Amino acid sequence: MINTSEKLFPAGSFPSWPMAGEEEERALLETLEAGQWGTLGSRALQFAERFGEYLGAKRVICVNTGTQALELLLRACGIGRGDEVIVPPYTFVATVSAVAWVGAMPVFADVDLDTGCLDAESVRKCVTPRTKAILAVHVAGRPCDMDALSRIAQENHILLLEDAAHAHGSSWKGVKAGNLADAAAFSFQSSKMLTGGEGGAIVTNNEAIFARAWQYHNSGRALEGGGELGGEVLMGTNGRMAEWEATILLQQLERLDAQCAKRTEGAAILDGALREAPGIALPPRDERVTSWSGFLYQFRWTGGCPRDSFVAKLAEAGLPCSAGYPPLYRMGMLRDQSFERSTGCAFGSEPRCPKAERLGDEAVWFKGRGLLAPKDTLRRAGEAIARIARECL
Ligand SMILES: Cc1ncc(COP(=O)(O)O)c(C=O)c1O
Repeated sequence: MINTSEKLFPAGSFPSWPMAGEEEERALLETLEAGQWGTLGSRALQFAERFGEYLGAKRVICVNTGTQALELLLRACGIGRGDEVIVPPYTFVATVSAVAWVGAMPVFADVDLDTGCLDAESVRKCVTPRTKAILAVHVAGRPCDMDALSRIAQENHILLLEDAAHAHGSSWKGVKAGNLADAAAFSFQSSKMLTGGEGGAIVTNNEAIFARAWQYHNSGRALEGGGELGGEVLMGTNGRMAEWEATILLQQLERLDAQCAKRTEGAAILDGALREAPGIALPPRDERVTSWSGFLYQFRWTGGCPRDSFVAKLAEAGLPCSAGYPPLYRMGMLRDQSFERSTGCAFGSEPRCPKAERLGDEAVWFKGRGLLAPKDTLRRAGEAIARIARECL
């Protein structure tokens, strides 16, 4: 029996996040001295180009948050009132609020119990004549089954979009997340594995989506106008990224692949300790996932004590753990007055997504920053989780 009141892992045992060094410091000073602080200076454009190269995608637009990236992307796809977008309930609020903010109706499909990613069969059942897109979230950085989702999108002539906020550096059959569908949105908020503090990006190979998203993010200005208002001005917003964020992102991108590899190694150490642990269900491997961002190490707690008590014990021991997402349709946002104002109708009865609900009760996250700890710390972390699991059975 371990005494969990004594911190097994005192503060400092796991790295803090975000991480920066002299490179970021120097680059920020250069931007300061260059005097071009507003966006569409050199940095945001340079980062868009580099990130596009990294993903193998043609077009990237830097924006100020992941939430804005989603909203602008949906608008650029022509999605609005009267349309439906299929979303998972096991996600961050922005995936769903973005759909409602553009006036469309989110329709909840169930998820895979182990990964939290959209379940293709459930998605298929949600398609109606009003469906315009599937918005797939690569939960915890693990890509969704993009083969199955692409098939459904093609058969029904609807768009497949990615919310890649967890998936910087993840790949599906050798292709980077963010370049697996018609278009994608990224977040660079401070918990993300590629971060500028805040920020987001829209990624696409589709020139029409790109041109409209560009205009919408730049107060309606056309790309060809050199930043001037004139020609056809759309009803846009200011979604531009600050040069500071882009400056840091350029440096962070240099670190990304090595950090992803280290987090993947760290996860393998936890896998080794937890594979046989009682009350712990690890997601099965999928050979089609060829690289992983390491945003969150997610597993299910199936032991006797409530998941929240188990997580509280992990946190007490100093482990960087928390509970996963509750099903989003239980969070009240769909009953907020702005939902109805925006979409033009009230959300109907509460959906039933049994697997998302069960995962909402069972999911445990070990945060990605923790996976960057020294190997020995991770070995001890795995042993401690397994021991606490035995105690909580
Ligand atoms: C899945 C998902 N989508 C969208 C977002 C929104 O990103 P941001 O916080 O940059 O607006 C987040 C952020 O946590 C997220 O986790």
